[in-house]
Amino acid sequence: MSEHNFEATMNFSIDTCQMVELPKISDPRGNLTFVESQRHIPFGIQRVYYLYDVPQGSERGGHAHRALHQLLIAVTGSFDVHLDDGREKKTVHLNRSFQGLYVCPMIWREIDNFSSGAVCMVLASAYYDESDYYRDYPEFCKVANP
Ligand code: TYD
Repeated sequence: MSEHNFEATMNFSIDTCQMVELPKISDPRGNLTFVESQRHIPFGIQRVYYLYDVPQGSERGGHAHRALHQLLIAVTGSFDVHLDDGREKKTVHLNRSFQGLYVCPMIWREIDNFSSGAVCMVLASAYYDESDYYRDYPEFCKVANP
């Protein structure tokens, strides 16, 4: 397991978003990976949701969150996550069940290039709350990069 010093970089820029190597218990019977709140990720998990049966060419995301922390995992298959903090952009390809992408608050994200059968599991720090979303990109940029 690799340790991350999240506190040192908790300024909600694109550099705060990082790949997290999760524990992988290899076994001839099949591998096992787990995620523990505050240990492997810098937040407590209050909600889990997943995207699946995503049609080819489809895009998800297209929003940012005011306060939500998330970990995205390609449980099966692969996809691209485009991150944007209002100043810089980067794209991360997720394709390993034992890796997660930590996405801090105030990051615009778009997810595309889903492989057939891909499942994107998201661990989130809070219950669903529509008022936590920025769904308008210019509005997000005004706040993120005033
Ligand atoms: P949204 O977050 O926009 O999806 P994505 O980022 O994956 O493209 O959510 C799509 C719809 O689902 C929207 O109407 C809100 C609803 N929703 C919930 O009710 N609960 C949830 O936990 C999530 C993530 C979404």
